[in-house]
Amino acid sequence: MNLVLLGPPGAGKGTQAKRLEEAHNLKQLSTGDMLRAAVAAGGPLGQQAKAVMEAGQLMPDAIIIKMIAERIEQPDCRNGFILDGFPRTVGQAEALDAMLAEKKERLDAVIEIAVDEAALVERIAGRFSCAKCGAGYHDKFRRPKTDGVCDVCGGTEFTRRKDDNEETVRARLKAYRDQTAPILPYYEAKGLLRRVDGMADMDNVTKQIEAVLKSA
Ligand code: AP5
Repeated sequence: MNLVLLGPPGAGKGTQAKRLEEAHNLKQLSTGDMLRAAVAAGGPLGQQAKAVMEAGQLMPDAIIIKMIAERIEQPDCRNGFILDGFPRTVGQAEALDAMLAEKKERLDAVIEIAVDEAALVERIAGRFSCAKCGAGYHDKFRRPKTDGVCDVCGGTEFTRRKDDNEETVRARLKAYRDQTAPILPYYEAKGLLRRVDGMADMDNVTKQIEAVLKSA
């Protein structure tokens, strides 16, 4: 099964992709995580990604398309994947179609996690993750069971993303409206688009997605 999760920054794509990954033995492919790994590794790609991400803009299509084309060929994607943060432009969506056609595969569903923009700044500003294992938390919506200790690995250090400040979030929302939202009619025309209410709590959003997958 191959899925795309669509939605603005903070909609819950990463949260839900991790749950689907475990429940369905699929591979989560987050272009944002890949770019953050490139930033951490240094080098020219990392430097470019750092500047673009901190400005809340999008990386050039050609770089991202190549990254995904190489990634979906890896053995851990054989059982299927969940694209989280890709495609983000109509050009990326068209390139994805071409990649899948070449592999004689297809998308099973494109799931839009629909949210009110007003809620997103709070969601993003409250987000943090374990510095050791990457488990995600939120100041209000998902605190660790013991304050200051990661539920998953017991780590005691946490990090916040550099692009999670209000100014950058506003630029990321604008990029979503201008460059990513036009993908919705693209997939609607193909009969692949399904919408879930991302303003519900996390478990309810998971249930809605599972219902979509049953009917896909
Ligand atoms: P990326 O890492 O993809 O960021 P994003 O799309 O802005 O999405 P986020 O990770 O911020 O949000 P999310 O929807 O995953 O929400 P989450 O589950 O964490 O991209 C970063 C940058 O990389 C881009 O700006 C761009 O520069 C570049 N880039 C990446 N891909 C690219 C591409 N294809 N082309 C070009 N450039 C690209 O949830 C958010 C918070 O809310 C969490 O704390 C969570 O606990 C909480 N939460 C989640 N669901 C709920 C709920 N239902 N109720 C309450 N709280 C919730």
